[in-house]
Amino acid sequence: MNDTIEKTDQNIFHTYGRYPIVLSRGKGVQVWDDKGRQYLDFLSGIAVCNLGHCHAGVAKAVQSQVDRLVHVSNLFYTQPQAELAALLTRHSFADKVFFCNSGAEANEAALKLARKCAYAHSNGKRFEIVTMESSFHGRTLATLTATGQDKFHKGFDPLLAGFTYVPFNDIQALEHAITDKTCAVMLEPIQGEGGVNVPADDYLKQVRQLCDREGLLLIFDEVQVGMGRTGKMFAYEHYGVAPDIMTLAKALAGGLPAGAMLATDNVAQSFTPGTHASTFGGNPVVMAAAVAVLKELVNSDVLHNCARMGSYFREKLVDLKEAYPDIIADVRGKGLIIGMELSIDGKQIVQECLARGIIINCTLDRVLRFVPPLIVTGSDIDTCIEVLHTIFAEIQKGK
Ligand SMILES: Cc1ncc(COP(=O)(O)O)c(C=O)c1O
Repeated sequence: MNDTIEKTDQNIFHTYGRYPIVLSRGKGVQVWDDKGRQYLDFLSGIAVCNLGHCHAGVAKAVQSQVDRLVHVSNLFYTQPQAELAALLTRHSFADKVFFCNSGAEANEAALKLARKCAYAHSNGKRFEIVTMESSFHGRTLATLTATGQDKFHKGFDPLLAGFTYVPFNDIQALEHAITDKTCAVMLEPIQGEGGVNVPADDYLKQVRQLCDREGLLLIFDEVQVGMGRTGKMFAYEHYGVAPDIMTLAKALAGGLPAGAMLATDNVAQSFTPGTHASTFGGNPVVMAAAVAVLKELVNSDVLHNCARMGSYFREKLVDLKEAYPDIIADVRGKGLIIGMELSIDGKQIVQECLARGIIINCTLDRVLRFVPPLIVTGSDIDTCIEVLHTIFAEIQKGK
C-alpha cells in the first residue's frame, strides 16, 4: 500500500471518495502522479487552475510576497489587498469587495449582507431568500441551506429558516415564490454542480427586472463560472445584466484559497465595522497570487482562447453525441464549462478516462463535466475526444 494513501485513509476524515492516485506535480494542463505517470487535467482542481498548474507569473508573485510579508491582521492596510480590490472593482459592476477564503465563506457573507441590508430597510420584516433547485452554494449551514439539493441537506436538520427554492430558468415560478418577506434572490448564472445548466438568453434579465420591481437584492454566485471560465471575466457579462452582490472563489487566486464578496456601494454600506470579518481574508500572499491571475486574464489572450477552445470542444462533443445517440443525451455549456449528459452511469466513464490518462468528473451521476484550464489547446481537446470515442465505442459494442 502506498504510504501517502495509507496515512491519508488512517488520519483524515473520510469525507471524500478519492481515486487511488497520489498527484505530486503539475504544469499547464498536465499533472503527474508519484510514479511519474502523466494525466491531462480536464478538471483543473474543479475549475480552480484556470491559468493551468503552476503558472509562472502566479508562482513568481507568491514567491516574492512570501519573502516580504505573509500575514498581518485586517486591522492594518496591505498593498496586495488594495491592488486586488481595485482591479476587481475596475473590471466588474461592483464598488466594494470583502475578502475571505472560500466559496462557501463568500456566499455566507453575501447571505448575511442581504439580510443586514434588508433588515435596515424593512425593520426586520424581510429576511427570506429565494434560491434555485439544483443549485450549489457551499457546505456551511447557511450555504448548505441555500443549496437547492436535498441530498446535501440530509442529516443536518434543522436547517436555517427563511429559504425557499424554485426551479432554475423558470421566471414564473420565481415570481410566485416572492412574498412580502422576501429580501433577495440568489443564483448561479450557469449552474455547475447541478449538472452544467445554462439558462435561456433572457432569463437573467427577467430575474433582474423582477428584483427591481419587487425591491429585492440579486446575488450571483460566480464561484465556479467567474474568473474567465465562460470566456468573459464574469458569466453575467454574457447576459447584459449585473447583480447587486456577486461571489467569487475557486480560480480567483490561481489555486491558493481565496474568496471574495463584491457589491455596489449602496448595498455594501450595510456592512459597518464589526458586522463581518475574517482572520485570513485578504492574506497578502493569496492576494498577490490573485493580482497576478487577474492581470493575466485582463492582459493576455486567455479569455479569447477560452471562448475559441470552448466552441471547438463543444462542437467535437456534439459530433460524439451524433455518433453515440443511445449513450449521449445532451451537450451544453459556455466557454470552458461543458456538461455532457449521458443516458448511462457517468462514474464508469470517469474511471475509464482516468485509466487512459484523462481527468474529468461527473455531477448528478450522469453529467460528465469538462472544466479544463483556459489555456487548453486544440490538440489537448483532440486527445480527450479520442479517449471518449474509444470508451463509447467499447460500450456500444458491449451493449
Ligand atoms: C457555485 C459554487 N458556489 C460555492 C461553492 C463552494 O465553494 P468552496 O468549496 O470553496 O466553499 C462551489 C463549490 O463547488 C460552487 O461551485
